[in-house]
Amino acid sequence: MGVIASAPAKVILFGEHFVVYGEPAIVLAIDKRVYAKVELRDDKRLYLHSVNLNIAGYFENGIFKIEQGDAKEAKLKFEPLKLTVEKVLEIHGESAGLDVEVNSTVPVAAGLGSSAAVAAAVTAAVGALLNVKLSKETVFRISYEAEKIVHGTPSGVDPAISTFGGSLLFQMDTGFKPLDVKADVPLVIGYTGVERSTRAQVAKVRDLKSKYPRVVEPMMRVAREIVLRAIDALKEGDLETLGDLMNINHALLYGLGVSDESLEWLIRAARKAGALGAKLTGAGGGGCMIALAENGRLEEVFEAIQRAGGMPFIARKTDEGVKIERA
Ligand code: MEV
Repeated sequence: MGVIASAPAKVILFGEHFVVYGEPAIVLAIDKRVYAKVELRDDKRLYLHSVNLNIAGYFENGIFKIEQGDAKEAKLKFEPLKLTVEKVLEIHGESAGLDVEVNSTVPVAAGLGSSAAVAAAVTAAVGALLNVKLSKETVFRISYEAEKIVHGTPSGVDPAISTFGGSLLFQMDTGFKPLDVKADVPLVIGYTGVERSTRAQVAKVRDLKSKYPRVVEPMMRVAREIVLRAIDALKEGDLETLGDLMNINHALLYGLGVSDESLEWLIRAARKAGALGAKLTGAGGGGCMIALAENGRLEEVFEAIQRAGGMPFIARKTDEGVKIERA
């Protein structure tokens, strides 16, 4: 039978990229989840299978063997999961052979934090299977280690939201704080269909910042002011202000060079269709944009994104972080 755990994807409302340099970010867990099913094996292999990506293979004595799909891609995707399993086995104190199957409704490399959600779900599932008590703090820490393999210098915002769920104010040095979001935040997410690497986008910003520090540093301060103002707007349910702030935040990200044509196209379409605000979300360079619209306008914004060639879906905030679905 095995154990199944799940973890949510996320959207960054404000502060991506700037968060890597210590500025705050506002992030929401959304009702799109990743599922990890784990079972014990009779041998010592760690067998991994991603149903959506059509890749499968196993690690045995540190060597990776491909069984399905492209070996290079599979190793890249599975290496961080191997680390999460090893960390849980370390706490368990004994080795074990495992079958891990990942099922996801989240587009990959799209800015929605799918890799962190997979890491959190696998960590929790392996813990539950082996009867290792893992606090959410530990699941976060292990998923963060896995994210370092995937992205190089991640801020930790993705594993935090996939683990804890809800709405968080996240900052690297002070950690995260649940946010008071009373009002509904009606969002349409538009996927450009363009996959991109978070690592490459983060590196691009790092290069720009070191080339023009006196230009980019003030942008960081503006990003912080946007987040501080947005905290109040979220509390008050002031969608108009949130929309304005999203547009300003997007302008900063555009200035950092992390938007692209596919995103601009969808953002323009959403604004023209009456969205209160629209911006890229996550690392940019493709991936996803988000548009905020009053409930009565969601349909129009959805259709405009679709007509512009994007893949839209309506996202709802979820309070549920990582959880065991079946023990
Ligand atoms: C990726 O979802 C968000 C970035 O800010 C990178 C990070 O925070 O690790 C671009």
